[in-house]
Amino acid sequence: MSSLPKTQRSVQINAHGGVDVIKIVTDAPVPAPADNEVLVKNTYAGMNFIDIYSRMGLYPAPSFPHTLGREAEGTIAAVGKSVRNFKVGDRVAYLGTGAQQEYTALAPLHVAHVPSAIQEGYAAAAILQGITALSFARESYEIKKGDYILVHSAAGGLGLWLVQIAKSIGARVIATASTDKKLEMAEDHGAEFLINYSTQDWVAEVKEITKDAGGGVAAVFDGVGKDTFDGDLEVVRRKGTLVSLGNASGAVPPFVIARLAPKNLKLLRPQLFAYIAEREEFEAYTKEIFDWIVEGKVKVNIHKTYPLEEVAQAQTDLGSRATTGKLILKI
Ligand SMILES: NC(=O)c1ccc[n+]([C@@H]2O[C@H](COP(=O)([O-])OP(=O)(O)OC[C@H]3O[C@@H](n4cnc5c(N)ncnc54)[C@H](OP(=O)(O)O)[C@@H]3O)[C@@H](O)[C@H]2O)c1
Repeated sequence: MSSLPKTQRSVQINAHGGVDVIKIVTDAPVPAPADNEVLVKNTYAGMNFIDIYSRMGLYPAPSFPHTLGREAEGTIAAVGKSVRNFKVGDRVAYLGTGAQQEYTALAPLHVAHVPSAIQEGYAAAAILQGITALSFARESYEIKKGDYILVHSAAGGLGLWLVQIAKSIGARVIATASTDKKLEMAEDHGAEFLINYSTQDWVAEVKEITKDAGGGVAAVFDGVGKDTFDGDLEVVRRKGTLVSLGNASGAVPPFVIARLAPKNLKLLRPQLFAYIAEREEFEAYTKEIFDWIVEGKVKVNIHKTYPLEEVAQAQTDLGSRATTGKLILKI
């Protein structure tokens, strides 16, 4: 511990609001790991839409100052007395709050070793969205070969993972996005049908595409939320599943469950952490995603790497629909 600095750069908010509440403080204390914790020296941190929800207050901060960021990669800088599986110098990636800073102390439940074959920055880019997409594609709705699967905002960070995973299972992927350029990217990752939901009647298009398969998709994976939810109920086939996984356009308003009755629909509002509460679950999904990256079975798409100091710009870009794939911060 003696060689570690006492203070660090950290992305913090002291109130909820616009991007102007984001501050880069340079004198945040470097935490000492508790007996059951590791201290990670972060090299890259991932950007996620949840950073925007946390900054705006849709997901309120537990206290202030609050450090943003939910995932990073780096090296172990110190270990607590009772930690057995990690040692100083190990290359790791993790899920945990307070990742957008130089050093983060956390219990190792959601810390994983990173294979040396994975390029720098890719583990931070992949760990949260990769295992979210994989666990949702297995557990929220188990995608099957031949299923019509609708993925909204398909060229986004999570969207490109869902498209690739659904395609690898043999599903027929219908992608929506707001621009034709984004749709080309979704197609390049395996989407078979492309719908520009800014210019086309996407509900009618999905019904037309699926008219020989019960007039609807087996499942929709929807991170857009408020703007697409009602349409989702129309385009899911009888006995199908609506996976409402996020709120990029705003939260879905309170919902009358009787609306599920006419087609016996299943509705889920999953969050990643409930699928990886056990260490074995986290390890299995992470290993699979890292193996796929090493084998070249999936593409990791980094839209842009921003310096930590430009985190507010990164949030602005992510929130303004100007990005495809993943945004990461170099720390
Ligand atoms: N439940 C979980 O555990 C979990 C985990 C990870 C992510 N998520 C969710 O997955 C979704 C995608 O997250 P991400 O980090 O990968 O972001 P992202 O998809 O890279 O960016 C969000 C995308 O949403 C679309 N969008 C539609 N309406 C929008 C609006 N009014 N404002 C802004 N964007 C809008 C945009 O794509 P178009 O321009 O193509 O419309 C935009 O690019 C989010 O809802 C996030 O909360 C959930």
